Amino acid sequence: MNRRMAVIADIHGNYDALSEVMKDMEKFDIDAVYCLGDIVSLGHQTNEVLELLTGLPNLTIIRGNHDEEVLKAFRKIPSEVTGPEHDHHVWVAEHLDPVYEEYLAALPLVQTREAGGKKILLTHYHLESDDTYTPIDPAPSVESLAPIYRDSDHDIILFGHDHMRHHFEHDHQLFLNPGALGVTSTAYAPYMIIEIEDDGAVHITHRNVHYDRQAFIGGLRREDPPAMDYILNVLLKERG
Ligand SMILES: [Fe+2]
Repeated sequence: MNRRMAVIADIHGNYDALSEVMKDMEKFDIDAVYCLGDIVSLGHQTNEVLELLTGLPNLTIIRGNHDEEVLKAFRKIPSEVTGPEHDHHVWVAEHLDPVYEEYLAALPLVQTREAGGKKILLTHYHLESDDTYTPIDPAPSVESLAPIYRDSDHDIILFGHDHMRHHFEHDHQLFLNPGALGVTSTAYAPYMIIEIEDDGAVHITHRNVHYDRQAFIGGLRREDPPAMDYILNVLLKERG
């Protein structure tokens, strides 16, 4: 039996994009959804995203750095993040429905799954030995990724965090980032489908799903959270 998994990453509070991606998945007979963290923050649709995800029957999910910071802000735990970014996390926490506090707190840093004989790692990004994230590599390659996972027995390494789509192969390992679903400079939200056949063959499909980006940006402008200029100009490449 084939195993077909949908991989989503960096939703960042963008329900408009996530809901269209979920509709797209319905075409593909998906067995499981893997979510690679940064569920909330940057976008304003925090509770809508969490409501959708917590209703999924076959979801494997981990936390990202933004999820952790929002939880810290909610619990008033001091953070090393300062300035407008911290103010933004406080704002998201103030809008977080308290029913999701325990859900965010329980999210693991990494998860491992087995599907079709393949061992799959879900991590928001590459981790140091002390479980902190390595600095973002703006131009990863097989040469930079392979040494990080040389001693890992995972066949497929899934990560997000850098908001770029990656697809690298080295020996028996695949290094994949589906791209940031909720932080897009176009009206297309990326995600990925992994299909594993009985004979172990792995097929990767990168999908781009149209969503109403202008409605999302309009909603964000109306909410006007802290760090708005950074979100609009730098992350969403939205001018004016
Ligand atoms: Fe992110």
